[in-house]
Amino acid sequence: MKKSILILNGPNLNLLGTRQPEVYGTTTLQDIEAACAAKAEALGISVSFAQSNHEGALIDALHAAKGTHDGVILNAGAYTHTSIAIRDAISATMLPVIELHLSNIHAREKFRHHSHIAAVVVGQICGFGAHGYPLAMDALMAHLGEDK
Ligand code: DQA
Repeated sequence: MKKSILILNGPNLNLLGTRQPEVYGTTTLQDIEAACAAKAEALGISVSFAQSNHEGALIDALHAAKGTHDGVILNAGAYTHTSIAIRDAISATMLPVIELHLSNIHAREKFRHHSHIAAVVVGQICGFGAHGYPLAMDALMAHLGEDK
């Protein structure tokens, strides 16, 4: 059966393109989603997109992904550094999640160095800007054994 993935973006990522372009680049979330849709087509998989500025809505989306999707690419934005609830939701769903950040969080302010979700995800991709999303799709497919 065709694999299905969810690309879930958290707070302030709806503002990509105009938000601190020196840090996050000028690519909009719409551009990223279009590139990921084209990549999904090439990989022969289904992809869905969601974005919310609300912690609970992100948790609801993770819960809903269980049984609907085979894996999730999650840019939890600043909730990465604060949310034990999102970490628990990832653990609860037992879905493979790739943690994604456009910026290299380890090269930025100290408070961004710690990720509450890093210990419960398959792996982390950060520092590659918008290119990180298609990279994460390849990583997730490899993890799901669909890279051959
Ligand atoms: C981010 C990094 C976070 O520290 C920040 O709060 C974001 C975006 C990134 O994609 O680089 O909102 O997740």
